[in-house]
This record gives sequence, structure tokens and C-alpha cells, in this order.
Amino acid sequence: MRTATIPAPRTAGSYSVGIVCLGNICRSPMGEIVLRERVDEAGLSRHVRVASCGTGGWHVGNAMDHRAASALLSWGYDPSEHRAQQLAPHWFAEHDLLLAMDAANLAEMGGRSERVHLFRDHDPVAPGADVPDPYYGGEQGFNDVLHMVERVAAGLVATLQRTPGVTGPTGLP
Ligand code: 4NP
Repeated sequence: MRTATIPAPRTAGSYSVGIVCLGNICRSPMGEIVLRERVDEAGLSRHVRVASCGTGGWHVGNAMDHRAASALLSWGYDPSEHRAQQLAPHWFAEHDLLLAMDAANLAEMGGRSERVHLFRDHDPVAPGADVPDPYYGGEQGFNDVLHMVERVAAGLVATLQRTPGVTGPTGLP
């Protein structure tokens, strides 16, 4: 099934994706690590960069939430390098696509635009839904987030592969 399209890169051959949640210690770092892994597997790591941040600044500089880290570790991902960052105006200028994890994050970012989408706008199963905040819940919520981001990341890689300009200039002079 086809999911939403994404805008062309600002610079041919280089695509920058930023994933945004509230605290940048649970959902968006999980999305970042999983999407980067899929990008590497697809052979796109020279062209596609993935980062994440939170709209709130409480956890800036901190490692990932330990429950998010254990969910990632148990499925073979390495959570150790993550340090939380806060969304700032330069993120809008420097990224080709910003993906909000839920409707509240999206509202904080000024709503949808060409380069600002919901992460799950790219979900082939339930497009337009939120990635629920697992912070106040139990371990299962983190596994649910992990499987959701794996599904969306696979769709996003397919979308990146068919988006003109991601791997270099389009057409011939
Ligand atoms: P995240 O989860 O937005 O997925 O990183 C949260 C992390 C921290 C808080 C809320 C949600 N907090 O209130 O500190």
C-alpha cells in the first residue's frame, strides 16, 4: 500500500529527517534509531540523515528512558548514544522533513505543512494516528511503540527510495 508522499530534498543527494516528540527520551529516539537502521539496510546512509528532538526541554542532555532503551536492546538495536535535544527554530530550516509523534507535538510545531507531518501520516495501517506516549504506562507500551515505529520506518524507507532527488540530482542536463 502507498503511504503519504514526502517533499523533495532542499539539496539533491541529501535528505534530513527530524523526528519530534515531547521529551525526546522515549518515542522520537526509538523512531530515530529504528529509521536509521532501516536506512542503513536499504543502502541509503550516504544520503539520508535522521535526528530527533523534543518540544520540551526537561531532559536535554539525558540518555534515553531506561524502558525505551530496554525495548530497543531486546530487539537488537543500540540505544546507548542517544542524548536528548530540544526543538529549536533551526530544526525547521535544517531538515527536509519533520515528523511529529502525536497531535500535541504537531500543534506545538504550528501544524502540518509541506515539511511538517505526523509520523503516522506514513503508517500504512492507520495513517494519521498518534504514537501514544508510553511515559506514564508500563513496559508493554514501549514494545507497542517499537513495533509501530518499525512498521512506519519500513514505509518511510520505501517512500524515500521513490522520492526524486534523495539519492542525487534528477534527470539529465
Ligand atoms: P516522549 O515521552 O515524549 O516519548 O519522550 C515523554 C518523556 C518525558 C515526559 C513526557 C513524555 N515528561 O513529562 O517528562
